[in-house]
Amino acid sequence: MLNSKVHALINDQINKEFYSAYLYLDFSNYFKAHGLDGFANWYMIQAQEERDHAMLFYTYLQNENMTVTLEAIAKPDKIFTDHMSVLEAGLEHERYVTSLINDIYGAAYDVRDFRTMQFLDWFVKEQGEEETNANDMISKMELFGSDPKSLYMLNQELAARVYTAPSLVL
Ligand code: FEO
Repeated sequence: MLNSKVHALINDQINKEFYSAYLYLDFSNYFKAHGLDGFANWYMIQAQEERDHAMLFYTYLQNENMTVTLEAIAKPDKIFTDHMSVLEAGLEHERYVTSLINDIYGAAYDVRDFRTMQFLDWFVKEQGEEETNANDMISKMELFGSDPKSLYMLNQELAARVYTAPSLVL
């Protein structure tokens, strides 16, 4: 039996991760509409990773014999003024997700739920990578975004991203 607060936070995280997928699909849609297929591909794969994250939390609750309650997924409502504003919204969102993971970890720590803490260790590391990736996208856009030829090359680089399944298996 999971502690009720830990249970509620993990259940909520399922929704938050599916929302993340929605958000990145919206990013992908933005870049597709602006002719940047490589960026669109990068965020499409990011959306797939977020669905994986959601399913890991979902499976964890099921494995622990805890109920899963699926709630409505919010509509992505960010207004993008330019390419950079999309990337900045990505970094802001990942920082928020890191804070959510930390909150679950804190709740598990408070009740000495070592199994949940061990499960969350993967997400703690993953969030470090997610924030680094989001920062890198901003740095690259700062460096290359204003020159059409460089932006084309960056778009080509991002087109090469391929999906890999998460290293955590439950
Ligand atoms: Fe599921 Fe981008 O964190």
